[in-house]
Amino acid sequence: MAKIKTTFFCQNCGAQFAKWQGQCTSCKEWNTIAEEVIQKAEKVSWDTSTSAGGQGSASKRAAKPLKVNEISLSAESRMNTKNSELNRVLGGGLVPGSLTLLGGEPGIGKSTLMLQVALQLPYKTLYVSGEESAQQIKMRAERIHPDSENCYILTETKTQNIFRNITDLQPDIVVIDSIQTLHTDHIESSPGSISQIRECTTELIKYAKETSTPVILIGHITKDGNIAGPKILEHMVDTVLQFEGDRNHIYRILRANKNRFGSTNELGIYEMQGNGLREVANPSEILISKNEEELSGTAISATLEGMRPLMIEIQALVSTAVYGTPQRSATGYNAKRLNMILAVLEKRAGFKLGAKDVFLNVTGGITVDDPAIDLAVVAAVLSSNIDIAIDKRMCFAAEIGLAGEVRPVTRVDQRIIEAAKLGFSSIIISKYCKLPKQNYRIDIIKLAKVHDVVKHLFG
Ligand code: TYD
Ligand code: MG
Repeated sequence: MAKIKTTFFCQNCGAQFAKWQGQCTSCKEWNTIAEEVIQKAEKVSWDTSTSAGGQGSASKRAAKPLKVNEISLSAESRMNTKNSELNRVLGGGLVPGSLTLLGGEPGIGKSTLMLQVALQLPYKTLYVSGEESAQQIKMRAERIHPDSENCYILTETKTQNIFRNITDLQPDIVVIDSIQTLHTDHIESSPGSISQIRECTTELIKYAKETSTPVILIGHITKDGNIAGPKILEHMVDTVLQFEGDRNHIYRILRANKNRFGSTNELGIYEMQGNGLREVANPSEILISKNEEELSGTAISATLEGMRPLMIEIQALVSTAVYGTPQRSATGYNAKRLNMILAVLEKRAGFKLGAKDVFLNVTGGITVDDPAIDLAVVAAVLSSNIDIAIDKRMCFAAEIGLAGEVRPVTRVDQRIIEAAKLGFSSIIISKYCKLPKQNYRIDIIKLAKVHDVVKHLFG
């Protein structure tokens, strides 16, 4: 067996070193030096000669260029995960041979989601866990979905042993929980280090591509919300999914940050229950609180997340500042944008908000970056400021410009249709929206300026 050769490279400038050191002497960056394999030993990692799969040997032939229209797509090019929210976010199902990375904060439910999917899958699935014991996983599986014929559990962290098991089992899908716990014999650094993560991922990519088996990796995220490990990990995989939501809320959102096989606009919504994650098929209903009485400071926005319209409730609280400097705080909405909107209201609509505390909250613990919620933010802030409730059956979809103009937003007809479907009686949009000639079962109010909105809402 040939010896494995490793050396140390600066991840910033690429300088090579014989041993690890804290600072790169070439670019002066700290903590950027990581060990990398430069020459592999034979047959220690995933090797096609160890696999019995036919595709492995086929890909060993040297590749030739092909005309695009000569490349044939196999009929069943996507694997249905039996989880419609996950399918939607993936762009229609798992692509054979693809690597998917699922990131999210600790305790958000990554393991629960993947185990649940693994238990439901109609394919032979290998769930590799480096974090929990088989008993712990069994306990969790009991809560979620007690019987499954196709799901195998392996508690192992060494890639060489994992591949040995894969060769014996020949699974159709592999789930790794989590990539940070894996380690390979080739590199001496501890699991979770940059070089270990990269090397293990490389081995898994090689396995996935050569056998056309989809591999799903669970990844930890750092404090600032990035996937722990090298940024290059995100470049290496085909799809990066983010599982998010406030841990204190029961709703979870799955979105794609990168997707080689579909759009990154799609969104999946789940509800965490005692027996696992429930798919939420009609999200608008859960995001709007079901208060019967009318409360000031709330407004409903018709937003779009990907292709899917979503009605979201915005709550604002405006009160006189107790301390000298007024506080501004926004949850689920960009705080800078809130400041901008307050400035526009002050300048263009004559509201003196300079000495007021303003708190803004998007209910359901989700974060929205659709600019169409601006108008609902304006309405909620004003409603709270003058303590007059907005009609619960009215909703908003428009962006606010710096001149105080109400600007049109994309795919406004889709938003109107959703609002009408959910029983809203009117929707305020920009005067400049171009609507296809169609009978909507809802009053459409077209306004041009913030000033007009104030007049329309509060007389
Ligand atoms: P987990 O999947 O372990 O999170 P991660 O892998 O992202 O760290 O999720 C654990 C949380 O989910 C835990 O706080 C309990 C909760 N949970 C439920 O509410 N219901 C369930 O059926 C399960 C399995 C977990
Ligand atoms: Mg976990």
